[in-house]
Amino acid sequence: MKLLLSEKQIQQKVKALARKISKDFSGQEVLLIGVLKGAFIFMADLARKMNAPVKMDFVRLASYGSETQSCGRIKFTKDLETPLRGKDVLIVEDIIDTGITLNYLYQRFKARRPRSLKVVALLDKTDRRKVDFQPDYVGFQIENHFVVGYGLDWAEKYRNLCAIYILK
Ligand code: PRP
Repeated sequence: MKLLLSEKQIQQKVKALARKISKDFSGQEVLLIGVLKGAFIFMADLARKMNAPVKMDFVRLASYGSETQSCGRIKFTKDLETPLRGKDVLIVEDIIDTGITLNYLYQRFKARRPRSLKVVALLDKTDRRKVDFQPDYVGFQIENHFVVGYGLDWAEKYRNLCAIYILK
């Protein structure tokens, strides 16, 4: 494994993101929605660094069909427990790759009529996009490496590492 982002780099970035997001929401309550499983560590750190009052919920998705198809079918295996209508909502993702997951989530959540809907992703592999999706906040743009740590796994391992590594 090769180090890509150290614990210190990540924590500094999370702090900066939390500051920016808190400022943009200007004291309004924010509903953070974590996309399981990968986002749970990023969301835990982000939430604890935010000044705005936060509530939290989680979703889990499963995708079916060929990875090479941009229209791969997605469904909720765990939906939200919180209604979104009228709320200020921030979707929290560990990584955006093809953009298919967030594109799907964004459309589904938008239809539930939140007052506002934004997206933060710690990592963004822009070169891998299959659908056009632009998050509102990004931690780091990275190249097309397979990365693990800080929530990201290989066969469910390495999610608990404090830094992010390229798996060779
Ligand atoms: C990862 C990541 C995003 C999704 C991004 O989840 O957490 O949810 O893939 O990929 P996309 O932009 O190509 O849709 P994964 O399916 O690995 O599940 P996990 O979070 O449980 O590890």
